[in-house]
Amino acid sequence: MKESYKIQSHKVADYYNEWSEKYKQVYGKIIQAHRPPNDQVLMEYTILSAGLDNGQKILDAGCGNCEPAAYFARKFTVQIEALTISAKQVSESKRRIEETQLQDKIHVQQGDYHELDKIYPLDCFDKILFLESLGHAGEPSLVIESAYKVLRPGGEIYIKDFYPKITADESIARKIKQVVENLNHHYSYNTLDLNETIEALRKSNFEIVFIKQIDFKNDAAIKNDFEEKFGIDLFGEMEEFYFAEWLEIKCVKPA
Ligand SMILES: C[S@@+](CC[C@H](N)C(=O)[O-])C[C@H]1O[C@@H](n2cnc3c(N)ncnc32)[C@H](O)[C@@H]1O
Repeated sequence: MKESYKIQSHKVADYYNEWSEKYKQVYGKIIQAHRPPNDQVLMEYTILSAGLDNGQKILDAGCGNCEPAAYFARKFTVQIEALTISAKQVSESKRRIEETQLQDKIHVQQGDYHELDKIYPLDCFDKILFLESLGHAGEPSLVIESAYKVLRPGGEIYIKDFYPKITADESIARKIKQVVENLNHHYSYNTLDLNETIEALRKSNFEIVFIKQIDFKNDAAIKNDFEEKFGIDLFGEMEEFYFAEWLEIKCVKPA
């Protein structure tokens, strides 16, 4: 049985348990690096892109402190299952859900998104969201396979994440590799490869709805503050450069 993802999942759980307060101090409620200046604009953008609507059963896979889930649940008549690998985030989320009186609409639990088909019934979700969360996966193809199983036919998966650029220039390729290694180390990430992600989606039988650049102007202020405050240096001696593309991918499980 393939279970090598468990080492990475444990690392990620420890990371968020330890860094939760630090994220709260700088990021506030939503832990997403690629964002417009205003949280509301980010949430409305996600709603439109992912196609969230009344009546849906939604899985937020990698839910953070449940602020995105709380936003969606305030706006729509939806049932949301929220999953995080971090016990600390589960307690933060429960507090948030009680505070906003959304207990009837959001259920949060600790669990590993590599095992969605063991946690939830098959064929049950209308939407599965990975909002800057899939890039932590030890085995993203396994996560995608398990997401496929728990989506209902006609249901959709929405992935927001970044993918390193590809270049024929060997010296730039080396620099990109170095920055990605630094990033993986500092953020407990396992940065996705675009080709591998698309291959995994198609192998699982997903059909691609779109793959596109995210259509808002990024405001890097929060990410920069966070990295400065906690001594995270991705570029070292290198001059900063644009090493990855932020993309949104939506796929459907054929009806
Ligand atoms: C960058 S945070 C994004 C949080 C949230 N989507 C938001 O917008 O605030 C990444 C999230 O992915 C979750 N995550 C990472 N690996 C996971 C795994 N193996 N299973 C479940 N959740 C995971 C983390 O616990 C964390 O909540």
